[in-house]
Amino acid sequence: MQIDVLTIFPEFFGQVFDFGIIRRAKLAGIVEISVHDIREFAADKHKMTDDRPFGGGDGMVMKPEPIFAAVEHLLGTSDRDAYPPGTKVVLLSPQGHPLKQRHVKELADETERMIVICGRYEGVDERVNETLVTDEISIGDYVLSGGEPAAVVLVDAMVRLLPEALGSETSAENDSFSNGLLDCPHYTRPAEFRGMSVPEVLLNGNHAEIEKWRREKALEKTTKFRKDLLIGENGEM
Ligand code: ADE
Repeated sequence: MQIDVLTIFPEFFGQVFDFGIIRRAKLAGIVEISVHDIREFAADKHKMTDDRPFGGGDGMVMKPEPIFAAVEHLLGTSDRDAYPPGTKVVLLSPQGHPLKQRHVKELADETERMIVICGRYEGVDERVNETLVTDEISIGDYVLSGGEPAAVVLVDAMVRLLPEALGSETSAENDSFSNGLLDCPHYTRPAEFRGMSVPEVLLNGNHAEIEKWRREKALEKTTKFRKDLLIGENGEM
């Protein structure tokens, strides 16, 4: 998979993709991640990437021209219908679809090339959304000062699901949300630590009992913290 991040703060991404699973996936050639400065695609002499909003109001809006130029440079077109198959152009904004593990999985499965546009200021000129963007995504119901941290979240969540990225010693199958529940608690050695013991069931080697315990604990945790996950789209439990 090839990922291109468009941002006015390329330095933000410094080494953020150079650790753990993402680093390993990059070294193994599973993913290639490039970060581009939107300012370099601004044609005017001041390299402007934002301007005042039509209609008045606070804040600045990101201009369309540099973002169109960047996408045209990367994809050879700014017509969403002409993108090569497997291409996604994602805009990160608080107005987007809330990101869930199932969307992350779909994106990881379907995408060969992804351009991630990090919005800033009060927003991005809507013509970017209307023409270039295939997926507008929010990582949660809170407002960040820009899409950059959200881009890191999206790329991390996706890359770890790419085949081979996690390696053989671990798997995404038991992740929280992958079966609709939060993950169960985990313990490692020592079995006794400052008077706190590991649950007996995990020490006895009975795999059927361990599985049953894990499922019960996952359900308990989900009921306690995320009842919404247990309620279906039509409100049924
Ligand atoms: N930019 C600002 N807030 C955001 C959010 N919650 N998700 C994605 N991008 C954002």
